[in-house]
Amino acid sequence: MRAVVAQSTTPAGETAGLMDVELPDLKPAGRDLRVRVEAVSVNPVDIKVRRGRPEGAPAQVLGWDAAGVVVDTGTAATLFQAGDEVYFAGDVTRPGCNSEFCLVDERIVAGKPAGLDFAEAAALPLTSLTAYELLFQRMRIPLGQAGRGQNLLIVGGGGGVGSMAIQLAKAMSRMTVIATASRPESRAWAQAMGADEVIDHRGDMAGQLKAMGLVGPPAIHHAFCTADTDPYFPVLTELIAPLGSLGFIVPPKAPLSMGALHAKSITVAWELMFTRSMYGTADMAEQGRILTEVASLLKEGRIRSPLHQRWGPITAEVLQRAHRQIESGATLGKLVLEGWPAR
Ligand SMILES: NC(=O)c1ccc[n+]([C@@H]2O[C@H](COP(=O)([O-])OP(=O)(O)OC[C@H]3O[C@@H](n4cnc5c(N)ncnc54)[C@H](OP(=O)(O)O)[C@@H]3O)[C@@H](O)[C@H]2O)c1
Repeated sequence: MRAVVAQSTTPAGETAGLMDVELPDLKPAGRDLRVRVEAVSVNPVDIKVRRGRPEGAPAQVLGWDAAGVVVDTGTAATLFQAGDEVYFAGDVTRPGCNSEFCLVDERIVAGKPAGLDFAEAAALPLTSLTAYELLFQRMRIPLGQAGRGQNLLIVGGGGGVGSMAIQLAKAMSRMTVIATASRPESRAWAQAMGADEVIDHRGDMAGQLKAMGLVGPPAIHHAFCTADTDPYFPVLTELIAPLGSLGFIVPPKAPLSMGALHAKSITVAWELMFTRSMYGTADMAEQGRILTEVASLLKEGRIRSPLHQRWGPITAEVLQRAHRQIESGATLGKLVLEGWPAR
């Protein structure tokens, strides 16, 4: 089967970083599905794994966000059968989906959302799972009417995770969503995703909130940071209202000063989308359920695919360009590659 592998730690700008190869066919066992990959989304985790590979590490298939068709199943798999169209993020401790076929545990897979093509579907799983798990399972933001009158700040509203955090928060809670964006195009994108207000994270955030009439506590009841944790932890500690919650998805590079959060009884929540699959937690099938719920929200027209750029085919050359785009830090929504080159 055709695949694109990371074969060294060289930057994406250098052609040695990713390479087109032929790999042996895969055979599903246990609860695995073998899926023919039709489209893959590119995420910062691809770049982080590529850069973090030890010197001399064996070639590795990256890419953990895909849509495709089930080809065959392990003997213990019961949820899907050959021919089913599916979407999933996968498990970062296993080979990824930048290959013609990949193996994935059926518990973290869901049926491809109705009415979406493969590229639109591949734009969804990783960021939807991240946003859903952090908002509703770690931060436990108030759902429906219970959220009315509260504010949720989403730092980085124009990116992949921000796009789904805005949409899912608006679809499932009556909170006011204030997103951050630093460029006219990312501001417009965050608004298109449903943000009620947009402020600039490169400016004085407290001043901008004040100008909106949000002065003093309680101003921000919940904050979801999609950007690096370290620079935002102090400012969010200041902005968060008593009894509020802070959510982070990027591991801090240095120890964080937590003491100031005690007086306000703030909940600090962490999210790694791969925790359930990496550790095989007893509730790992929750990811299949969440993706099924996301598909229902799409069908009802309450959210939409965050697909922004559709590239292809899936080759080392196109993936290298995609890595460079993600490395720019200025991606809007999701970038997806679809299709394989003709033989
Ligand atoms: N823990 C997890 O499970 C998990 C899951 C997914 C992602 N992540 C991590 O979360 C981060 C974001 O992922 P992503 O997929 O959303 O990335 P992305 O799509 O590449 O994010 C691009 C966006 O980031 C914004 N941005 C850039 N610098 C910023 C800054 N200093 N402050 C605020 N926003 C900034 C940009 O907005 P402007 O152009 O408006 O500045 C841009 O629209 C990455 O580090 C990724 O590895 C973690």
